[in-house]
Amino acid sequence: MTKMLVTGGAGFIGANFVHYTLKHKPEYDVTVIDKLTYAGNPDNLKSILDQVNFVTGDICDRELMDKLVAETDIVVHFAAESHNDNSLREPWPFVETNIIGTYTILEAVRKHDKRLHHISTDEVFGDLELDDPNRFTEETPYNPSSPYSSTKAGSDHLVRAWIRSFGIKATISNCSNNYGPYQHIEKFIPRQITNILSDIKPKLYGTGEQVRDWIHVDDHNSAVHLIIEQGKLGDTYIIGADNDHVNNKAVIELICELMGKGADWYEHVNDRPGHDMRYAMNSTKLRTELGWQPQYTDQDGMRNGLQATIDWYTENDEWWKAEKAKVEAKYAEQGQ
Ligand code: NAD
Ligand code: DAU
Repeated sequence: MTKMLVTGGAGFIGANFVHYTLKHKPEYDVTVIDKLTYAGNPDNLKSILDQVNFVTGDICDRELMDKLVAETDIVVHFAAESHNDNSLREPWPFVETNIIGTYTILEAVRKHDKRLHHISTDEVFGDLELDDPNRFTEETPYNPSSPYSSTKAGSDHLVRAWIRSFGIKATISNCSNNYGPYQHIEKFIPRQITNILSDIKPKLYGTGEQVRDWIHVDDHNSAVHLIIEQGKLGDTYIIGADNDHVNNKAVIELICELMGKGADWYEHVNDRPGHDMRYAMNSTKLRTELGWQPQYTDQDGMRNGLQATIDWYTENDEWWKAEKAKVEAKYAEQGQ
């Protein structure tokens, strides 16, 4: 068995990754380290808790990380403060976890000579104009906009520097916007689904012309496994499912339609300051060098993936109901 340490494994993508790993990759013996912030929920792993080792702790804790990294073969690093709107209200936790936490992991990985895969985001590249024909590639210069994306960019730079200066065995992936089960209801898609389920109108920031290159979380995680197994050490891989033609307004209208509401049963609210306009990913390297293919593709893929996600939030209302009023009250303070 290969020992795998998953940081942030009680969060949205990390928890889906742990489920995916146990289902498709039985060769891994999984340990999760998670601080259980507001975004981490041990219930995300409830059905498989007896099959993983779960450690509640902070990735900034040097002693703990040194011990956990010493005991593992590979670290898959998801843990982060991940929500842009929160980073605009209170940037410090983003600097602490995303930068100092990643530094702490890097030092442990260096000391114990362990394999690392670092999970990052398309937001490190900044944004594109709506009519720009380009997509982000592995060579696109970094130009982050928000406290969140700048701290993720900082963490990527640290990983790259540790690869070059110390020769650590690491890979990096930059993925676009994920959706699927277990995503916190502060995020765009689950917020709107749970709004409709709570008889609240969905909330669209500004005009809604912004474009996100949506990918189902299982497609992200299948790519991460492929990179772990076949990726070239030291390399970066872009992960994206070619959904960069769907703007926020179209996503909200599709959710309304799939949930039996009129396509215009939503309202415009205050825009996000510094709101990135468009992200678009060119995942040619991952597809040609490693042979990756997403399962949920294009507009129909998003429709199918969204329907499955709507079904999940509908069937699992005990997972989100207690949080709903608090999340909406926080948004209401910003006129959102
Ligand atoms: P999330 O906010 O749902 O989960 C983050 C997890 O990290 C939570 O369980 C939280 O408790 C844990 N955590 C936070 N601070 C910690 C600390 N100091 N020590 C230990 N654990 C801590 O985030 P997510 O959406 O699942 O994102 C996971 C990773 O993927 C992040 O690195 C994010 O930047 C990246 N990413 C996310 C997306 C997306 O669309 N959500 C897209 C691309 C990349
Ligand atoms: O691009 C990858 C990134 O995707 C990840 O790195 C981040 O961790 C993740 O949170 C996500 O960032 P975004 O800021 O793009 O996601 P969010 O779900 O917050 O918003 C998606 C879009 O929807 C964005 O253009 C803002 C808009 N929006 C968001 C909310 C919460 C709305 O119109 N209404 C809303 O209520």
